[in-house]
Amino acid sequence: MEKAMDMFRHVRHTWSAISVVAGASVLLLAASACGESSLSSGGADGGGDKGSVKLGLLVPLSGVYAPLGRDMRNGFELYLAQHGNKLGGKTVELVVADEGGGPDTGLPAGQKLVTRDQVAAVAGVVNSATAISLRDVVDDAKVPLIVANAGANAITGAKGSPYVYRTSFSNAAVNEAFGATVAKEVAGGKVYAMAPDYLAGQEQIAGFKKTFLAAGGRLAGEQYTPFGKTQDFQPYLSAVRRSGAKAVYAFYSGAEAVSFVKQYAQFGLAGRLPLYGPGFLTEGSVLAAQGDAALGVRTSLHYSTELDNPANKKFVADYTAKYGSSPTVFSVQSWDAATALDKALAKASGGAELAKALGEIGAFEDSPRGPWRFGPNRGPDQPFYQREVRKQGAGLINAVVGELAA
Ligand code: BEZ
Repeated sequence: MEKAMDMFRHVRHTWSAISVVAGASVLLLAASACGESSLSSGGADGGGDKGSVKLGLLVPLSGVYAPLGRDMRNGFELYLAQHGNKLGGKTVELVVADEGGGPDTGLPAGQKLVTRDQVAAVAGVVNSATAISLRDVVDDAKVPLIVANAGANAITGAKGSPYVYRTSFSNAAVNEAFGATVAKEVAGGKVYAMAPDYLAGQEQIAGFKKTFLAAGGRLAGEQYTPFGKTQDFQPYLSAVRRSGAKAVYAFYSGAEAVSFVKQYAQFGLAGRLPLYGPGFLTEGSVLAAQGDAALGVRTSLHYSTELDNPANKKFVADYTAKYGSSPTVFSVQSWDAATALDKALAKASGGAELAKALGEIGAFEDSPRGPWRFGPNRGPDQPFYQREVRKQGAGLINAVVGELAA
């Protein structure tokens, strides 16, 4: 009966999502046809039949962060394929919605998932400003949101909603971890800081400055470029050159990271001014598109494909077999969001009980990034790694060169 009601609600509420639901189902069917059911290791409760659950996945399918959205969708769907399309024993009906470039598109898409599609939980969200705009929507509706990328500090801060968890990072943490190391490596020289002009850009540079300046580092200048619109970085790179900086610290991701790093090299700065930043600068398909322009870039992140642990080796192998490319931090964060839902849906079906069950998960022992857990503010308690872009065979990797103080 419950199943029949779910079907009825689906037909009534998801007409505009039919193509994406169908797309996801086709993918899953194709996965099992290719023998990928052999990846299956059962759900959190052993895979018993507990009916079905409708979940929303809100990721950018368009705009500068579309490559991140693709990786996140891949990570979530890999987990489903590995677990027979069940989370917590419930068959998953996944509604994928386009976050687009920011809150103008992400907020209405998230509202639709919650109010019209009536999903039990939403996962995804790349952009910090979109995440902040969704806080009250999910809090009012009592629908858990698992942020699988956006780093907005406040979304899991002391004033965050009890319905919002995060499997990624906070903008402060990933950059604060790196400040003292950069100050030491640049040894007295000044650093120029750059980022796109929106919430994440401002928070990421603020996090870096906090520990960099406290460790005796000095800034040559800082600059915020129009977000999602800047294709030509030359005027900004001219300002860097004039500033007398000895190094640059930059947060860019997706299409902007590709243009920035390539133009940094074309402008003759690569090799002369070391380039640092949070790891989004050189992650995944972005790194392949940057090519040799990215060689030597040093970053801080909570993941690298090169991490030497059994869970990561299996994850990289399964992901590469399914998609023909290496996973990224975005795929891992989304795979971990599916893990969280798997464990919590085994205990509850939605609302306050599901939010409570998320808080009771404890350690994520099998995460490709290594074991981690939700901290008191529902964000991850995790280590960060220092990485450097190096050549490996015909390609490029983010080699892990050390662990950074949390
Ligand atoms: C953000 O908006 O929070 C964000 C976007 C891309 C990479 C990292 C953070």
